[in-house]
Amino acid sequence: MTYRISSLEDYHDTYQRSTVDPEAFWQEQAETFSWRKKWDQVLDWNFQEPRIRWFSGGVLNITENCLDRHIPTRGDQVAILWEPNDPKEDAISLTYRELLAQVCQCANALKKLGIKKGDRVVFYMPMVPELAVAVLACARIGAVHSVVFAGFSAQALADRVNDAEAKMIICSDFNQRGAKHIPVKKVVDQAMAMGCPSVERVLVHRNTGDEITWTEQDVWWHEEVPHQDVTCPAEPMDAEDMLFILYTSGSTGKPKGVVHTCGGYMVYTCFKFKNAFQYDEGDVYWCTADIGWITGHSYIIYGPLLAGATSMMFEGVPTFPDAGRFWEICEKHKVNQFYTAPTAIRALMAKGNDWPAKYDLSALKVLGSVGEPINEEAWHWYDTHIGKGNCPIIDTWWQTETGGIMITPLPGITDTKPTFASYAMPGIQPILVDADGNLVEGNDVEGLLCIKFPWPSMLRTTYGDHERCRQTYFSAFRDLYFTGDGARRDKEGRIRVIGRVDDVINVSGHRMGTAEVENAINEHPAVIESAVVGYPHDIKGQGIYAYVIVDNESDEIAAEIRSVVTREIGPIAKPDKIQVVPGLPKTRSGKIMRRILRKIASKETSRLGDVSTLLNPEIVETIIEGSKEA
Ligand code: WT7
Repeated sequence: MTYRISSLEDYHDTYQRSTVDPEAFWQEQAETFSWRKKWDQVLDWNFQEPRIRWFSGGVLNITENCLDRHIPTRGDQVAILWEPNDPKEDAISLTYRELLAQVCQCANALKKLGIKKGDRVVFYMPMVPELAVAVLACARIGAVHSVVFAGFSAQALADRVNDAEAKMIICSDFNQRGAKHIPVKKVVDQAMAMGCPSVERVLVHRNTGDEITWTEQDVWWHEEVPHQDVTCPAEPMDAEDMLFILYTSGSTGKPKGVVHTCGGYMVYTCFKFKNAFQYDEGDVYWCTADIGWITGHSYIIYGPLLAGATSMMFEGVPTFPDAGRFWEICEKHKVNQFYTAPTAIRALMAKGNDWPAKYDLSALKVLGSVGEPINEEAWHWYDTHIGKGNCPIIDTWWQTETGGIMITPLPGITDTKPTFASYAMPGIQPILVDADGNLVEGNDVEGLLCIKFPWPSMLRTTYGDHERCRQTYFSAFRDLYFTGDGARRDKEGRIRVIGRVDDVINVSGHRMGTAEVENAINEHPAVIESAVVGYPHDIKGQGIYAYVIVDNESDEIAAEIRSVVTREIGPIAKPDKIQVVPGLPKTRSGKIMRRILRKIASKETSRLGDVSTLLNPEIVETIIEGSKEA
């Protein structure tokens, strides 16, 4: 059984042990899983290349650890508890035994449709149980899954399919979100029409039954999957074989495919799940994230199932049919651990205290927050109105690249402090450095957040572009993983992650590259140049502010730009504010001075700093004037 820390003293001891001899520590954790063959070497690493290999030579299949391993002890326990979008429909429970059978059926169907070990399969699906089933089915046969959030546009989907050279897309006919039916299959058709030459088959799950257009690559899920055998041998995988690719935005260019491998990811996500949530046997755990993001991968599917938990999956949105839905679900299923994003907390907080007051939330033991800094007001509201002062809040800091939770309080064990992710998890050595890479020591200090030593679930590469991985994470500071975040360490040594220090903005917990949004805006024929920055937004955390130079200004320009961005990336990247400007502040070398644009967007114009080095200092006043109307 995966080790669970049980006291403050235990945390200190475990942490000490895990950093003095990380290899021994992680080896001990790895021993608790089921391996076909044990590893030859615990760790082999070099951050300069980077080369990171955990448990190499070890052979396993993660689904045997998520499913088969649990059958003797918890075959009839609910593994996935699914709550539909429409509260009038019934919830679905899949026991570990049922889930294993469904995963095997789907795995057999995938094999029959030509999917083999190493092939990439892209998902474009709503939060239905079949998504979890099919993701695990890929892992069962050694195919690499890449889940694309179903809010991305056809163009964004096609880009990811082509980057991964996926052989198959798995989608639904329509998604249900609140009162709306969203035509996802149509988006897949559009992506295919743009050219996805590697795709041989599209496997379509009938979700709403609304009419769709049928093409020759298409295969119905219900015509293939249910007829398959309910057993399927698990493919033996090397610990370092690829498990999945997940695309995420960076500060430059197109999204990158973060690659995670089988062994280390398994050991780490399970350990962190059990410890961060202090999950007890029989608890009902609910993470509200979408499986299109890393949180859904690690903390709806893999972490909880590896730990033998009951993991809830919700198809809908927090405000349908009303703003009490989350709390109604917590009451209905007696949820014990609840994990969500600050943006959801803020949105629900804005709807008033009466909603949570209507429901019995007494089963809750632990509240989690993830994806962006949680502001103090939202933290207190969560504590008072949801936790009733009885549930420790774990503000968990981590990233797509880290695979699992890195910095968090341990509920009931370490203390909590609003807005602080606080303490490093065992095996994690966070440090702060200044811009020159000098260690920032002592307490009550700020710096750039880096991690000193490898941990099992860290990214191994960016798909098809190892150099980009090296550049982005391992080149800024020698022998350190650079997170891209700035952080503060308080007087007692707790860490508070302040936010990105690169050109990445965090909109409602979703990561957007400013360059990516600019590229999309520039597709509008009237746009000559654009600059995108983040600014503080009450609900979303950060909003998207776009400054654009256009060659003929019309009344419709803002609406048109928003629709171009929706077409190129998806509605999540739509700028909240668009300001038409006659020029952009540039340095003598022609670089846009984003620092100034950020200040203007944040209405911090009294602290602009020196603008005299600009090529065109006079533009600053003009932009400030114009910003008053944006
Ligand atoms: C970025 C990673 C981790 C899964 C969801 C987001 C920010 C994440 C926190 C937190 C402050 C946080 C960071 C990080 N972030 N959690 N608890 N406090 N900031 O994954 O899309 O890879 O984004 O989200 O800036 O670098 P992601």
